[in-house]
Amino acid sequence: MKILVEDTAGNHTPHIIVVGGTSGLGLALALHHEMLGWQVSVIGSNEAKIADINNQHPTIVTYVCDLTDVIQTQSLLDELSATSFQRLVYSAGSYTNERVHHLNQADSDKMLAINLQAFEQVFRWASSQLKQQYQSLDASKGDRPSLVCIASIAGTMDYPYASLYAKSKRAMIATVSAYRAALVPYDIQVNCIASGYIDTQALRDLNDGDASHKPFIMSTQAAVDHIMQAIDDDIELAIFPRSMRYITSALNHLPKPVLNWILRSKLDKAR
Ligand SMILES: NC(=O)c1ccc[n+]([C@@H]2O[C@H](COP(=O)([O-])OP(=O)(O)OC[C@H]3O[C@@H](n4cnc5c(N)ncnc54)[C@H](OP(=O)(O)O)[C@@H]3O)[C@@H](O)[C@H]2O)c1
Repeated sequence: MKILVEDTAGNHTPHIIVVGGTSGLGLALALHHEMLGWQVSVIGSNEAKIADINNQHPTIVTYVCDLTDVIQTQSLLDELSATSFQRLVYSAGSYTNERVHHLNQADSDKMLAINLQAFEQVFRWASSQLKQQYQSLDASKGDRPSLVCIASIAGTMDYPYASLYAKSKRAMIATVSAYRAALVPYDIQVNCIASGYIDTQALRDLNDGDASHKPFIMSTQAAVDHIMQAIDDDIELAIFPRSMRYITSALNHLPKPVLNWILRSKLDKAR
C-alpha cells in the first residue's frame, strides 16, 4: 500500500527523499524543500547527525542506513517502497585528499561503494518506483517526478590521471545520462549536478577547517540556488560556477597528454 500525504483539501504534499541528506549540501537541499512545503525524508549513516536532525527538524523523517552495505541498503529501499515520492536526490558522497594522502584500501572501498555502487542500487530502485507510481491513476497529480544526482565538476574532465573520485563521478554522469534517455517515455525528469567547490563542513574538515583557498568556492546556499534552478529548467548536466565551467571546458579541448601534464603538476601539490 502506498502512503500518500494529503491535506484537508485533498491535495498531495510532494515528498522528497534525500539520500545523503544528513549534512552538507544534501541537508541544505532537504531544508530548502521543507521550506517550500515538501514532506522530507533523509538518509545517512551517522547516528549523531540523525539525532541532531530529529531534535532540530522534527518534521523531517530520518533513516539510518550504511550505504556501503548492500543488504542494509536493500532492506531500507524495500521499506521505502511503501511510500510514494516525487523527487529523489542522491547526494551521498565520499571524498578524501586523494592526491595528498595515499588512497588506502578502506577509502578506496568506501568511495567506490558510495559514489558508484550504492548510487546505482538507489537509482535502479527509484526509477522503478517512479515508473510504477506514475503509471497508476493518482500519478497525474502534482509535480513532474524527478531523479537528481549530485556528481562533481571533477567528473566532467576526461584524462588518464583522474582520481578514483573523479572517475566515479564521471561514471555517475554517464549513468544519469542513460537514465534520462530511458525515462523520457515515462515523463520522469533526470538531472545531474556537476558543481565546483562548495564550502561545506566536510570540505573544510579535509582542509584543516578552512577551504576558502579553493578556487571559485561557493556557499552552500549558492549551490542550492543553482541546483533548484537546474531542476526547474530541466538541465541534463548542470555545471557551475560559470568560471569553473569555462575552465574545464577549455581544458577538455587540450590534447590529452598536455591536459594530463597540467593536472598532474597542479593536483600533486599539497593542499
Ligand atoms: N563540497 C564540495 O566541494 C563538493 C563539490 C562537488 C560535489 N560534491 C558532492 O556533493 C555531495 C555532498 O557533499 P558534502 O560536501 O555536502 O559532504 P557531506 O556533508 O559529507 O555529505 C555527504 C552525505 O553522504 C552521506 N554518507 C556518506 N557515507 C555514507 C554511508 N556510508 N551511508 C550513508 N550515507 C553516507 C553522509 O551522511 P552520514 O555522514 O550520516 O553517513 C552525508 O549525508 C557529495 O556527493 C560530494 O561528492 C561536493
